[in-house]
Amino acid sequence: MQQYQVKDIALAEQGRKNIEWAESRMSALLAIRERFVKEQPFKGLRIGLALHITKETAVLVETLKAGGGSVAIASCNPLSTQDDVAAALAKEGIAVHGKKGESVEEYYEYIRAVIATNPHLTVDDGCDLVSEIHKNHPKLIPSIIGGTEETTTGVIRLRAMAEEGSLKYPVVAVNDNRTKHLVDNYYGTGQSALDGILRATNILFAGKSVVVVGYGECGKGVAQRSRGLGANVLVTEIDAFRALQAVLDGFRVLPIADAVKEGDVFITVTGNKHVIRKEHFGQMRDGAVLVNAGHFDVEIDLASLKSLAKKQRQMRPSLEEYTLASGKRLYVGGEGRLINLAAAEGHPSEVMSFSFCGQALALEFLAKQRGKLSPGVIVLSQEVDDAIAELQLRALGVRKDTLTAEQRKYLSGWQEGT
Ligand SMILES: NC(=O)c1ccc[n+]([C@@H]2O[C@H](COP(=O)([O-])OP(=O)(O)OC[C@H]3O[C@@H](n4cnc5c(N)ncnc54)[C@H](O)[C@@H]3O)[C@@H](O)[C@H]2O)c1
Repeated sequence: MQQYQVKDIALAEQGRKNIEWAESRMSALLAIRERFVKEQPFKGLRIGLALHITKETAVLVETLKAGGGSVAIASCNPLSTQDDVAAALAKEGIAVHGKKGESVEEYYEYIRAVIATNPHLTVDDGCDLVSEIHKNHPKLIPSIIGGTEETTTGVIRLRAMAEEGSLKYPVVAVNDNRTKHLVDNYYGTGQSALDGILRATNILFAGKSVVVVGYGECGKGVAQRSRGLGANVLVTEIDAFRALQAVLDGFRVLPIADAVKEGDVFITVTGNKHVIRKEHFGQMRDGAVLVNAGHFDVEIDLASLKSLAKKQRQMRPSLEEYTLASGKRLYVGGEGRLINLAAAEGHPSEVMSFSFCGQALALEFLAKQRGKLSPGVIVLSQEVDDAIAELQLRALGVRKDTLTAEQRKYLSGWQEGT
């Protein structure tokens, strides 16, 4: 097995600078690293990761290594690897497997390279690593202490596995930390999805009709930031309460069948399949831009779009033009994969510091609880979440208040009333 598989090891110098740049924005995670250096929570443990190979992920990888872990990483998306960062990690002796633009076959080859290291701990983003282990390498499961999962889609898949009794080791749903989904999904996707669209298209948002498909944590952020740039934001939802939230936040809510006729830009963030599909493409405006920021590339039915198109060409990096029989042109960003990672650099480092503090502390928790946890999906305690928020506040130099003794007593009692 090759020690690493990267596009070009000569890119390592720029990758190292990018990692240093990310570090300079991730001091909360660096504070955890400092403690890990002393306490060595992962001494003797092998950690296998399938994450987007970005400069921020590199800071996490080096934190786990500093904590005594032996780390192997594969990318969790064929288009998200930052090749210079991968090269820099390889140069540091990390077993890194990923190239921007890798094929689906290579994608699974790289995941299998991580599995081949026989990890004690797994770190996943989307559950492909966990499902590959369960489907094709079940013999490894007895030596696995536990795993962590980064994103909503992965947690949904893990809960489905747990429900049918298929999940055979404990996995921490890092996404369920408040300091993850209310920050990363909301502020992170809100900014970086637009960053991806702008890098792919350089269009003006002001005055455009932007359709946000799905008003969850990611969709809320994307809708807010689009409005901030002057777009008229339309929202589609299938959940009654979230549709109401969108209305009360000041957005127009309508069915996708109507929205397709009005949108200049469509951004899918549902974690669901074919939310924009065959019957919709022909009704769209000429020049409409379609992107996805949900985990998998299944939200826009690209196979149908391809079958409808009489011509297809790469317009510019991360932007493909599809010409329909009517002559109408539609533009798809980042091949329908996460636009913020395919066309830009993913979330800002400040945001990933929150998420990866959660990953680091979840892995430490699993290592400490070795042998004591049952298979299933675990949510970290409120104390861990609060500790991450405290670290972030300290990193930002922000001071908050604390309860007085009188207030603590008041909040824990029931006798005092009108
Ligand atoms: N791009 C990124 O960097 C990034 C970051 C975090 C999460 N994600 C991914 O983004 C997706 C959304 O995550 P989230 O945390 O916002 O999830 P969420 O569950 O909070 O929100 C998804 C929303 O989509 C709605 N929905 C489902 N099917 C729909 C349909 N057919 N039409 C309209 N709405 C529909 C749901 O009702 C829900 O409100 C997931 O796949 C997640 O893994 C991406």
